[in-house]
Amino acid sequence: MKTLTEKTINSLVDETPSLIEYFEKRGIDYCCGGDISLQKALQLGQFDEHLIIREIEQWLSNSKTNKSDQSSLIDLEYLALSSLIQYIKDKHHVFTREALQKLGVLVEKIAIVHGNDHPELVELNELFKVLKGELSAHLQKEELFVFPSLLYMEEQLKNEAEPASPKRSVSTLWEPIEQEHVAAGQALEQIKKLTNNFSLPEDACSSYIQTYTLLEQLTKDIHVHVHLEEHILMPKAEKLYQQLIN
Ligand SMILES: [Fe+2]
Ligand SMILES: [Fe+2]
Repeated sequence: MKTLTEKTINSLVDETPSLIEYFEKRGIDYCCGGDISLQKALQLGQFDEHLIIREIEQWLSNSKTNKSDQSSLIDLEYLALSSLIQYIKDKHHVFTREALQKLGVLVEKIAIVHGNDHPELVELNELFKVLKGELSAHLQKEELFVFPSLLYMEEQLKNEAEPASPKRSVSTLWEPIEQEHVAAGQALEQIKKLTNNFSLPEDACSSYIQTYTLLEQLTKDIHVHVHLEEHILMPKAEKLYQQLIN
């Protein structure tokens, strides 16, 4: 049995989904960088290992006594591929599109109004425009191309009489998606640094507050969204693909 530090960040999140909240708070990557052991992640991020391990142990012990901590992510592992895709679209794609829309207006507005006193807002506006365009295209690619290809595979497996080999392997389909997840994660990290972890200056107006609050919500939501796609959806699809070709 693996010790706590030998386990990967992903497996820790799979076992205790509420840890996402802790990893967010500490800035420990559980999305695209979550395939490494906790020990390696702590070394790479130059964290205080003893402190983090103590906090995680405390978190795990609290989560055992708190039923509400048994987040729904556990159940998502057991959903059929089609239901999981529907869940991702309904919960995360809808939220992301709404947030991108609202933030497109807000980020530009505060850059114009406060850009002189806070030049980082001008940079934020430029960075956000690129992220908005890339994320919108990413969601569309998943909905129009990747998800239907995965759903077709699920249908083929049900159709025992005439199973057809999928045209592309899941890993081929997924490669560009993974690259885009990594790129989005890096852009969000840059935004986090630029806004000093979404810290508001004293002269922040209500639009400023609204912008930073929504940016932080979007960042957290995308982390969970990517975690679901990379560590629950993709392995599930790969399993189906293996069943189909063997
Ligand atoms: Fe997605
Ligand atoms: Fe995605």
